[in-house]
Amino acid sequence: MSLTITPVTPTFCAKVSGVDINQPLEETTFDAIRAAFDEHLVLIFSGQPMTDAQQITFSERFGRLEGTKGVNPASGTPFARQSNLDIKSGEVIAADDRRMFYQKANMLWHADSTFKPTPSLCSILTARVVPPAGGATELASTRAAYASLSAGQKAEIEDLVVEHDFVHSRGVVGFTFTDAELAGMKPARHRLVRTNAANGLKSVMIGLHAKCIVGWPEDESRDLLDDLLARATRPENTYSHEWRTGDVLIWDNQAALHRATEYDTMHHHRLMQRTTISSGIRSNL
Ligand code: OGA
Ligand code: MN
Repeated sequence: MSLTITPVTPTFCAKVSGVDINQPLEETTFDAIRAAFDEHLVLIFSGQPMTDAQQITFSERFGRLEGTKGVNPASGTPFARQSNLDIKSGEVIAADDRRMFYQKANMLWHADSTFKPTPSLCSILTARVVPPAGGATELASTRAAYASLSAGQKAEIEDLVVEHDFVHSRGVVGFTFTDAELAGMKPARHRLVRTNAANGLKSVMIGLHAKCIVGWPEDESRDLLDDLLARATRPENTYSHEWRTGDVLIWDNQAALHRATEYDTMHHHRLMQRTTISSGIRSNL
């Protein structure tokens, strides 16, 4: 069987079949997957259940993995765990538990790790336990958002710098940190406009962590970020993934956004494991 790439929407996302990503991948096979990722921003593999070790092996083909710190229950490992199940007992976590509240931020459009000085290239999310209803992941293209701008608007934003701040984004959902957690949480500055090194296509790095445009008045800054988000999340620039156990998704964190949707966290189980691959390029701003 040969590698087949099937676009899912006219603008982005593609299904990949004809490859077993749990087996060691030939260089040429991986190169084709990587090229498809650069072209489509989101890749979907179905029927490829992964163990943690297999997910790490596949993820490392894309680059160095970020470590997870802070309040995620998988802190100290290369995984971010998105789940309503207690990592030790496997029992459902109460709705008012800080861990569940924390996951609420995942329901707002964001890209992973944009608040770090070295932004992420991509994330890989694998479905281990899927609820019978809800719990989808929606994706949006900020490459399409950029493409929708006029030539004048593109010129106006070309050199802008955006500040991404984890304290800001968690504040949006009313989450507060202890002083110990706050220590060392500094905002990061990035160029707003990103250029894909493989194909030269531009996108904007926005989403929940994006706090402001450096040097702009607050209201103008918010208007621009909101306008770009509205463009990215137009229905024609989005895709909703209904998970099945064994699905594997890769998304670009500099040209796409994503968010989780609701499910019945009291009666159904959901467990997703995320690895986050670093871009390896630290911002010097
Ligand atoms: C993530 C994330 C969304 C989901 O893992 O980074 O935002 O649907 N997940 O679990
Ligand atoms: Mn995320």
